[in-house]
Amino acid sequence: MRQIIYASSCEHEMTPEGLDLIAIQAHRNNPKDDITGMLLYGDHLFFQVLEGPDEQMTQMMEKIWSDPRHQGITEFKNAPVTGRCFPDWSMGCYHPDATGDRAGSWRITDIESITARMPETITPDVMVLIRTFFQSITRK
Ligand SMILES: Cc1cc2nc3c(=O)[nH]c(=O)nc-3n(C[C@H](O)[C@H](O)[C@H](O)COP(=O)(O)O)c2cc1C
Repeated sequence: MRQIIYASSCEHEMTPEGLDLIAIQAHRNNPKDDITGMLLYGDHLFFQVLEGPDEQMTQMMEKIWSDPRHQGITEFKNAPVTGRCFPDWSMGCYHPDATGDRAGSWRITDIESITARMPETITPDVMVLIRTFFQSITRK
């Protein structure tokens, strides 16, 4: 089992509808590949946690990293893990202007609105990265 955490940027503003399209793709594909995680968007930046079996993760990362909807990927973590932070999330997606539809992404209002939803299985290193990313998008 591998966990990968990265941030990337997108040239054009990603609308809630645009993020919903990614969420729909993730909800369709990730369960088949036994991949779970979360995806945050804000201020032209993505932050994603993915976790799953090594082989499926390699194939998924090739797809995601060649996706023209984002550029300039910075990896924060790419390491074997013994358990998942998001065992029940095929991909929890967050956008500052989302409407909160179950099929798409959830709205981010403040860091508490994110942390309140985090599963108990989340590890401290992942929580720190999420908080740091959130602070970087709200400070701009
Ligand atoms: C920031 C970002 C995150 C993404 N995350 C996922 C994901 O978790 N799962 C997924 O299947 N596709 C994800 N995608 C979409 C993939 O890059 C790709 O378009 C999609 O998997 C293709 O699906 P298909 O093979 O069913 O056509 C993401 C795209 C972006 C830009």
